[in-house]
Amino acid sequence: MRVDDFYDRHPISEPQVLAAVARRRGGDLSRLGPDDLFEFDQDHYGGLKAVDELARRAGITAASRVLDVCAGLAGPARFLASRRGCRVLALELHAGRAAGGVRLNRLVGLDGRVRVVRGDATALPFRSASFDACVSQEALLHIDDKLAVLAGCRRVLVPGGRLAFTDWIAHASLGERERARLVEWMAATTLQSLDSYRALLGRAGFVRVEAEDLSDEWRPLVKARLATFRALRGDLAARLPETRARDYEQLYAFFVGLLEDGKLGGGRLSGSA
Ligand SMILES: C[S@@+](CC[C@H](N)C(=O)[O-])C[C@H]1O[C@@H](n2cnc3c(N)ncnc32)[C@H](O)[C@@H]1O
Repeated sequence: MRVDDFYDRHPISEPQVLAAVARRRGGDLSRLGPDDLFEFDQDHYGGLKAVDELARRAGITAASRVLDVCAGLAGPARFLASRRGCRVLALELHAGRAAGGVRLNRLVGLDGRVRVVRGDATALPFRSASFDACVSQEALLHIDDKLAVLAGCRRVLVPGGRLAFTDWIAHASLGERERARLVEWMAATTLQSLDSYRALLGRAGFVRVEAEDLSDEWRPLVKARLATFRALRGDLAARLPETRARDYEQLYAFFVGLLEDGKLGGGRLSGSA
């Protein structure tokens, strides 16, 4: 499956975020601030706490120029800008998600500090040494050439700048047929182990590399997310044919099963340029 097709039918989208916020506020979408969106606009595991942890490892301060690679609807970028006071450039491939990110930034008055650029993480369209920190969450799993992304981040960081990201991690027991299904169903490709990611970071030129296994932390989170998708089925079915809404749930249940069996997990990696 192509990444764009996967995100065309993903349950987290701009209309879903706005519908959830409207429900929460009795239909009133006026005078929204970034905090009104945070419960709904983060597409990774562990919510705002996970973004905070990454920001700490990436050394992000108010003075940082931050690049969020594969930024989705720019939810984490808005959180970083609003809490840390930094400027964030949110790079996103999917046209609908990039446009949604622009509109959500404007809606909550953060368009001055969070800029969205539509582009491919394997060919970062930025000058060398133009960022102090790079972050990314649950996205490199979609990209074949992970070394190209990491080397690109190394190039656009200033010397000593920090990269911190989280991603799916393949454990040794993940079989070839399961890998093939993840490619076909979730556009999840060339999944790495923590050790192979360490090696890739080294090849990309990063030093002071750190790797943490988040698999135990993620297991209950992905189960909770599956329950949320099930609860959202009504919303999803309104936008997609019912069979596609059900398909999404089934493939997500397959993914959750791999985590429960210890075949897949999560990792947080960081390094200095
Ligand atoms: C699971 S979402 C995570 C979004 C965001 N990081 C967050 O935590 O809310 C993964 C995102 O990566 C984007 N993506 C996948 N491949 C990409 C690429 N080659 N370049 C840029 N973005 C990409 C997808 O379109 C999707 O929006």
